Amino acid sequence: MTDDYGRSVSYLRLSVTDRCNLRCFYCRNKEGLQFIPHHKILRYEEMLRLIAAVDSMGVSKVRLTGGEPFVRRDFIEFLEQAAERFPQTDFRVTTNGTYLTTHAERLQRMGMRYVNVSLDTLDPQRYAEITGRDMFSRVWDGIHACLEAGLRVKLNAVALRSFTADELEGFIAFALEHPVDVRFIEFMPIGASTSWEEQQYWSAEELVAAAKNITPLEPVKAQDRNKGPARMYNLVRGRGRLGVISPLSDHFCAQCNRLRVTPDGRLRTCLFSDKEYRLRPHLRHPKLGIEHLRRVLVAANAHKPLGYELLQAKKDNAVCQRGMSAIGG
Ligand code: GTP
Ligand code: 5AD
Ligand code: SF4
Repeated sequence: MTDDYGRSVSYLRLSVTDRCNLRCFYCRNKEGLQFIPHHKILRYEEMLRLIAAVDSMGVSKVRLTGGEPFVRRDFIEFLEQAAERFPQTDFRVTTNGTYLTTHAERLQRMGMRYVNVSLDTLDPQRYAEITGRDMFSRVWDGIHACLEAGLRVKLNAVALRSFTADELEGFIAFALEHPVDVRFIEFMPIGASTSWEEQQYWSAEELVAAAKNITPLEPVKAQDRNKGPARMYNLVRGRGRLGVISPLSDHFCAQCNRLRVTPDGRLRTCLFSDKEYRLRPHLRHPKLGIEHLRRVLVAANAHKPLGYELLQAKKDNAVCQRGMSAIGG
């Protein structure tokens, strides 16, 4: 599957639910919670059908996201089923980490290697302020449960000018001690009710400069951006790594290798573009045929935009209307 700019797809991000047990201020809908109704959410069997379709189209990595994927009933069983049915596929999850003490060992047993955990602060009180929930210790224990189970952990922290600088030292100390990747993500203006504002944006460059004042960093050389948008640095004196994901200041659209599918079964060829393609009818009514679905995917992907151009052209506060929790990051 190649698009008009010559980029090919090898990675699918599939969001299994828009629901979440946290209420992070930068993600939640200011008008209140409006979730996608259940009948519009893709069923697990439909997701398996989708994975089967892309499996034969060059997709070797599938990330399950949310909302929070583990709040969906039987998510762990779905993962096990998917891993068993598609043994060649590299399955990953992005989670807020609140269910990992329960599931870390099962994830490891099913052959998952990496778990990405969203965590913006190491301070329990600040965690409660950001997420609206007093669940820091649950996440902390979940991260350790993953490490003990032998899973590789990547921590994702949104870089916010108002507090991330205070957090750097703690995150670096954690990465010095543990074999984890800590990645800071530039705050993106996503969703009609986004709380994004210029003053909160802290660029990857500024962040790396601040980190270098704390500990020596060595850029990971010869990176294949196809392996992911993060720019990584080895911590010279430690076990883990530090990284930045810079969709605003130094975009990676030219190497973009991914497609996204929303919980209601819509294909988004770019995180930033609200142009969506309805896949649910094809997945719900297999009589339409898997070949038909493949044709839709190929045709949609051909016109995948360059996200940074949309960002440059944005007129409102947000680049796209759909919120992060209903896209899946
Ligand atoms: P790895 O495969 O482990 O490198 O993870 P990933 O970075 O692909 O996935 P993850 O879910 O951990 O995403 C981390 C952050 O990067 C999220 O905030 C995503 O929205 C952002 N991100 C991931 N892929 C893209 C992308 O293609 N474009 C943009 N603009 N942001 C992305
Ligand atoms: N900008 C950058 N990252 C965001 N995330 C959620 N909203 C934003 C945003 N506006 C992060 C989450 C999680 C990942 C999937 O996306 O915190 O780490
Ligand atoms: Fe891909 Fe769009 Fe992200 Fe650019 S902004 S890397 S095109 S998803």
